[in-house]
Amino acid sequence: MNIVHIKQLLTLAGPPRARRGGEMRDLGIIEDAALTVRDGNIVWVGRTDDLPDKSGDAFDATDRVILPGFVDSHTHAVFVRPRADEFEWRIEGTPYMEILARGGGILSSVRTVRDCSDLSVRFADKFFEYGTTTIEAKSGYGLNLEHEVRMLEAMQREARLEVIPTYLGAHALPAEYKDNREAFIRQVLADLETISSRKLAEFCDVFVEPGAFTIEEGRRIFTKAKSLGMHIKMHADEFKSSDGAALAADIEAVSADHLGAITNDGILRLANSKTVATLLPSTLFMLGETHYAPARKLIEQGAAVALATDFNPGTSPTLNMQFVMTLACSQMRLTPAEAIAAATINGAAAVRRADRLGSIETGKQADFAVYEVNDYREIPYYAAVNFCVATFKRGSLIYAKDRGVRSEFQ
Ligand code: NIG
Ligand code: FE
Repeated sequence: MNIVHIKQLLTLAGPPRARRGGEMRDLGIIEDAALTVRDGNIVWVGRTDDLPDKSGDAFDATDRVILPGFVDSHTHAVFVRPRADEFEWRIEGTPYMEILARGGGILSSVRTVRDCSDLSVRFADKFFEYGTTTIEAKSGYGLNLEHEVRMLEAMQREARLEVIPTYLGAHALPAEYKDNREAFIRQVLADLETISSRKLAEFCDVFVEPGAFTIEEGRRIFTKAKSLGMHIKMHADEFKSSDGAALAADIEAVSADHLGAITNDGILRLANSKTVATLLPSTLFMLGETHYAPARKLIEQGAAVALATDFNPGTSPTLNMQFVMTLACSQMRLTPAEAIAAATINGAAAVRRADRLGSIETGKQADFAVYEVNDYREIPYYAAVNFCVATFKRGSLIYAKDRGVRSEFQ
């Protein structure tokens, strides 16, 4: 199958790793472009005039922009109940971490997940509608082996959207361990062995934050996870700094996420490491914060910056990466090009998939989305308006605006 006459094709072509500094502005744009898909992969990319084989199905993309499918590298997409009640409590003045301290927040999601017999990735179809083709998803609403495993199994069952599973057993201290932190940490360390031997998760994450888990607890859990061959992601310096970025760099985490309260020293540590700095501006936006992560400083110091939604029922009930890019541009001063690099190839790097996802190049998986705009900058510019009209996953048209999301690949 060929896609032809693409007004702008954003290839993001380049080495299979995260982009840093000035590299983030180079989107490898081809005008009046074409691409060829075979067996789920991209086999040719160039100008329509140069297309070598014009036979077979063709999809005309005149006046459309195509970019790689978003790789949303941080979500908590397996949950049961929306927490709109807490949204209202926060508006009325109760802080997020206080709701958790009172047994709500994450712990409220834990109760509903433990009670639900058919867990699933929520809104998998909607991700396609907004141009996302791969997500990372975390457990962390089970908080014991049985229910963490059920969450991870729900991710495995999602066959169309590619879901990369992360074990977040240390997301909050469950009520039954309220007076026994040490026993809980030991339980998580033991459960890691089961999770890794059953290959249920590729990454291990910990919510390192005052009110959740300490740096030392995080270090113990990550050290054990690494010894079992798992890779590390980390909720770091989300609201208050606890030198999370430094721990992420020390432990060679694949990504350090949030970073709303990262210190100058933390910025330098990440800039001099391979750890991707994943920024989640919709979380701070939904919490009504006006202070965002220092994205410009991170980019200028040379850190690899990715963007993700943090889609979850508490702090970030959005799965719209286009809107996350809008926030990144307007609140953190990323240019539209930097935001797109952060949401595609750098998101892929944040889940160790930059060799297969995140760009449109010969040999890569054919995951891309078509937008009804003439200039890619209009995607973050039209705030909260969805211009995605078609999405391809593994070379199949999985979503078309006029036909909706298909129930299976064709
Ligand atoms: O990334 N901070 C910890 N975890 C999520 C929120 C999860 C929840 O509130 O359910 C976050 O913000
Ligand atoms: Fe999160």
